[in-house]
Amino acid sequence: MLLTQIDHVAIAVNDLEAAVEYYRRAFGAEVHHREVVERDGVEEVLLKVGESYLQLTTGLRADSAISLFLERRGEGIHHVGYRVDNCAEALAAIIAAGGRAIDPEPRPGSRGTTVAFVHPKGSFGTLIELVQE
Ligand code: CO
Repeated sequence: MLLTQIDHVAIAVNDLEAAVEYYRRAFGAEVHHREVVERDGVEEVLLKVGESYLQLTTGLRADSAISLFLERRGEGIHHVGYRVDNCAEALAAIIAAGGRAIDPEPRPGSRGTTVAFVHPKGSFGTLIELVQE
């Protein structure tokens, strides 16, 4: 089994501060990590849930994937991040199984990770992110 953990579940939100405050009020959740990812045009906040994260994310530019998603689909679950030991190996495996790579090769992700995205089409409607720490 190449997937070792759920790394994160990412939820696209319009108002990052409101979402953080909601999880704080409801569950006492504290911000574990916060990062602007310039290349993707997003800002994200990670809330720790056991060994995994809940990622709240919003778009910073109209042309970012998250902004387009919010415009088209509204707020909600955007992708599932699976933790893997070797991103390149897991990417090759899912492509061999019929998955459609968005990233042809692993690339830098947030918090110093190496990641690759796989298109929902071919993966039963779920955008998959492979995350190597
Ligand atoms: Co992610």
